[in-house]
Amino acid sequence: MSNINLQEILNSLSIEEKVGQLVQLAGVYYINQSEITGPLAKFDITDTHKFTAGSIIGVNNAKDAYAIQTEYLEKSRHKIPLLFMADVIHGSHTMYPIPLGMACSFNPELIEGMARNSAKEAAATGVQVTFSPMADLARDARWGRNMETNGEDPYLNKVLSSSYVKGYQGNTLSSKSELISCVKHFAGYGLVEAGREYNYVDISKRVLNEYHYPAYKSAIDSGAKMVMSAFNTIESIPATANEGLLKSDLREKLGFDGVVISDWAAVTELINHKLAADFKDAAKQCANAGVDIDMMSMAYLTELETLINNGEVDIKLIDEMVMNVLKLKKDYGLFEDPFKNLIDKSEQVVGNEELLINAKQVADESIVLLKNNENVLPLTSKYAIVGHHVTSRDYNGPWSWQGDISKNESIKEVFSANPNVTVIEEATKIIDIQDYEYIDTVVAFVGEKSNESGEAKSKTDIKLNSNEIELIKTLKMIGKKVITVVFAGRPLDIADIEMYSDAIVYAWFSGTKAAQSIYDILTGVVNPSAKLTMSFPRAVGQCPIYYNSYSTGRPLSKAIDTYVSKYIDQSNSPLYTFGDGLTYSDVKVTNVDLKESLSIGQDLTIKVELKNSSSMEAKEVIQVYINDLVASVIRPDNELKAFKKVNIAANTTTSYEITVNGNEFGFIGSDLEHRIEAGEFEIKVGLNMTDTINKIVRMEK
Ligand code: BGC
Repeated sequence: MSNINLQEILNSLSIEEKVGQLVQLAGVYYINQSEITGPLAKFDITDTHKFTAGSIIGVNNAKDAYAIQTEYLEKSRHKIPLLFMADVIHGSHTMYPIPLGMACSFNPELIEGMARNSAKEAAATGVQVTFSPMADLARDARWGRNMETNGEDPYLNKVLSSSYVKGYQGNTLSSKSELISCVKHFAGYGLVEAGREYNYVDISKRVLNEYHYPAYKSAIDSGAKMVMSAFNTIESIPATANEGLLKSDLREKLGFDGVVISDWAAVTELINHKLAADFKDAAKQCANAGVDIDMMSMAYLTELETLINNGEVDIKLIDEMVMNVLKLKKDYGLFEDPFKNLIDKSEQVVGNEELLINAKQVADESIVLLKNNENVLPLTSKYAIVGHHVTSRDYNGPWSWQGDISKNESIKEVFSANPNVTVIEEATKIIDIQDYEYIDTVVAFVGEKSNESGEAKSKTDIKLNSNEIELIKTLKMIGKKVITVVFAGRPLDIADIEMYSDAIVYAWFSGTKAAQSIYDILTGVVNPSAKLTMSFPRAVGQCPIYYNSYSTGRPLSKAIDTYVSKYIDQSNSPLYTFGDGLTYSDVKVTNVDLKESLSIGQDLTIKVELKNSSSMEAKEVIQVYINDLVASVIRPDNELKAFKKVNIAANTTTSYEITVNGNEFGFIGSDLEHRIEAGEFEIKVGLNMTDTINKIVRMEK
C-alpha cells in the first residue's frame, strides 16, 4: 500500500472525520488506565468521538494498544489507523539518567545510542511516537523541568537534540523499532519567569533566535517529524496561538513541514490567558495559528466542525492540517502495517541485557565528580554509608512511568556486598558513628526524591533539607571524611554542605543502573568523566545564573568594586559552573595550536595537546569557547563553540584535532539575521572554562 494516495483519502473524509484526525485523546477513554500528564477536561467522550479521533496519548502497553487499534479499525468508517504517542523521555522501562544528567556526558554518540535503545524498548511495548527531545534551554534552577533539558548551553543543546532525533527515528523511520520524534516545547519554555512552571515568558526575538531556536532547528534538520508548541507566551501571545511563531518562524524560517501538536490542554488554556472567550474562540485561534493536533483540550473536538461550517476556519486550512497528519502516518508505515510496534514484544526486549549494559554506560558518563579534596576518592579503606537514598531505590527520576523502582538495586544492596562497608540506615543514628572507631570515612546519600523535580515542580528553596545539611555537618564535626552523593533533578544550592564535604558526587537521578554506577565511580572501577551542563548557584537569589550571560556596561573587576554589576551579599560567580567536573586522573591541556587568521565562513581547526600525568586512563572533554571582542550586538565573554570527548591513556601526551565550524563565529544581528563580523576573537581551549589556554584569531573580511 506504499502507493497509497493521501489526497484520495482526504477527499473521502467527512468534516467530522477530518476534525477527528486533529484530535488526540488520552488512552483512559479506551482502557481503564493510562498516563495522565495534565488536567482531564470534564467532557463525555462518546463512541463517535473515540472512533474518529486520530491519535492517542499515554497507553504505553502493547496489548492495550493492539486491542484499541483492532476495535478502532472495526468501528471507524475510514479505517485510518490511530497513532499511539507517549512520553519516552529518558528510557521506557529501563531507565536512563535524566536528560540533564545524560547531557553531562558531552557524548553525542552515547546519547544517540541511548535513544536508539529506548526506542527499541518502547516500540516493543506499543509506543509509536515519543514526546522527546526537549530542546528548551534551561537557566533557572528553580524550574523543575531542568531535569528534562540538555542544560544551559545553546551549542551543546543543538548537538544533543539532534542525537536524540537520530537515535529515535533512525535514518528512514521505516523499520520497526523506531519512534517518531516530537521535539518540544516550541519555544522558549525554559525561560518561565521566576522559574515558576507554566509562567509568563518575555524574551526578545533576537535572543530567541540566537539562543533558543538552534536546538529546535537541529532537531528538525535531523528529521524530527513533530513539534509540540509550548505552554508559555512569546511576545504576549501563548505559543499555541502564536501564528508568527508557528508559521513565520517554525514553518518558514526553520523549515518545518511536519505535524504541530499542542501541549496537553494548551488550546483551552487560552481562556485562562484571557486570549479566548470560550472553547470555540480558542479552537479558532489555535487552528488558524498553525496547531495541527489538539492534545487533550477537547476544543477541536467540540468546536472545529461548527467553525468550518460557518466559515470561521477555512476548510483549505483544515485540509492542510489533516494532510500533515496523514503524511506522518504514511511516512511511519501505518497504512501498510496499522499494528507497527503494537505487537507485544516486552518479554524479549524490556530490560534485556543490551539495555541494561547501555543504561550502565550512560549512567557512568553522566554522574559528575564536583569535588575531591586530597583525593579522598576513590574509596580504599573501610567506610560507612548513610542517608535516605541508601535504601530508597528512588533513582529513576521523573518521567519514568514504566520504570519500576522495585527492580532497581538499592545502594545498600550494591555496597554491602563489599566487606569494607558499614550500612547505617537511619540518619538519626549518626551519633553512633563515633562508636565505629575504625571508620574514618562516611558516604552520605542525600538529595531530592524523584517527585521533587519534573513538570510542575518549581521550588523557591533549592537547598537540601535541613536534616541532611545537619547530618553532613555533624559527620564533619565528629572528624569523619565526608563524601556527599547528591540525587537531584536540578542544580541544588549545595553551598551549605560544600564546605563540610571532602568530596561531592552529583548523581542526578541515574536510572535503573544508578546504584552500580555510583559504586563503580566511588571505588574507582569507573573514572568519572561527566561535566556540568548547568551552573550551580551559590544561593537561590542568583537564579537565573548561566555561564554565557551577556556583558554589562559596568562589569565587576578586581580594580573597581563600586557601582558595578554585583551583589552586595554574594559573589557573582556560581558555586560550580558549566563545564566543571573532575576525573581521578591528572590531565592538562599543554599546547594549543591554531591559525591566527581566518576568512569569514572558514572553519577553525585547532590542535590540542593533552598530557595525562596519572596512572589512570581518562575520558576528558576538550572545550572550546570563543569571545567575540567587538561586535554590533553585545556578546557574552564565553560561548562554547566546539567540544570533543576523548580517551587519554595513562602517562601519555596525545594530540587531538577539534574544529570550530565557521558559522559558529556568527550571531543573530539586530535584523534577526545570522551574521559573521570581521575582527578579533579570543579562543579559549581547556578541560573546563576556568583553566584555559587563550589565543587571538583574526577574522578577515
Ligand atoms: C508536558 C509535555 C508532555 C505532555 C504529554 C505536558 O504536560 O508539558 O512535555 O509531552 O504533557 O504528556
